[in-house]
Amino acid sequence: MLKETLINAAEAGAKVMQHYFNSTSLLISNKEGINNLVTEADHASEKAIFETIKSQFPDHFILSEEAGEIKMDSEYKWIIDPIDGTVNFAHGIPICCVSIGLEHNGTMIMGAVLNPFIKEYYFAEKGKGATLNGESIHVSMESDVMKSCLVTGFPYTYVNVPNGPLEAFSRFIRAGVPVRRLGSAAMDLCWVAAGRFDGFYEHKLNAWDSAAGYLIVEEAGGKVTDFEGNPYSPYQPHIAATNGKIHDDLLKWVNDKV
Ligand code: IPD
Ligand code: CA
Ligand code: CA
Ligand code: CA
Repeated sequence: MLKETLINAAEAGAKVMQHYFNSTSLLISNKEGINNLVTEADHASEKAIFETIKSQFPDHFILSEEAGEIKMDSEYKWIIDPIDGTVNFAHGIPICCVSIGLEHNGTMIMGAVLNPFIKEYYFAEKGKGATLNGESIHVSMESDVMKSCLVTGFPYTYVNVPNGPLEAFSRFIRAGVPVRRLGSAAMDLCWVAAGRFDGFYEHKLNAWDSAAGYLIVEEAGGKVTDFEGNPYSPYQPHIAATNGKIHDDLLKWVNDKV
């Protein structure tokens, strides 16, 4: 039932995204930071996801980007990004998705990321592997960070951002290592899981950006930590996710220890 609800919730959000995509009358406003956008589609997707979850599990805790916390005394916590890649979405760029992770007693047990535009549905359940559209996926085999294809993201504002995202980016680019920037952390993580990218790092993410993607990477055989190499926690901002083989070297580059 949990899995079914997770899938139904992701599909409900994705349907809303499709409805509003490329709408010429889309209502767009900004949060803190002029390009930190939120649209009516973010709110509508969130509402559709909430309704799906609450119809089955009205007592579960929910943490979601736009609505914040719906606190409940529950072992289960749904961590929701109703649209990850809102700036892309608002510009008609089809690199955006619904991302939902489910925690049980503090452990991520399931994650789903659904991009309805390129028709990619990623799913992972703890201990049971990761899939893309139902087919098993695995991280890449690359073991040399210098030969890797990486991806990163940048915060909307540079206030209170530790450890210099631009500096890390510049180190890689000067060394000739390709670093892409898709604009959706959840897609970044899923594309590491699918072996398209060898590694991803970002300096300032929130729980909803990474909760589902984290589990999808791990279940695809990859590794996810903070910049010190500590196990992933959704509640701290630094994230490094790789195929495992380049992990230590990627952390050295990010931390300027090369
Ligand atoms: C953003 C995206 C982006 C990342 C930002 C996030 P949003 O999420 O994941 O890739 O660089 O840090 O805030 O606002 O589109 O849900
Ligand atoms: Ca996000
Ligand atoms: Ca979002
Ligand atoms: Ca946002």
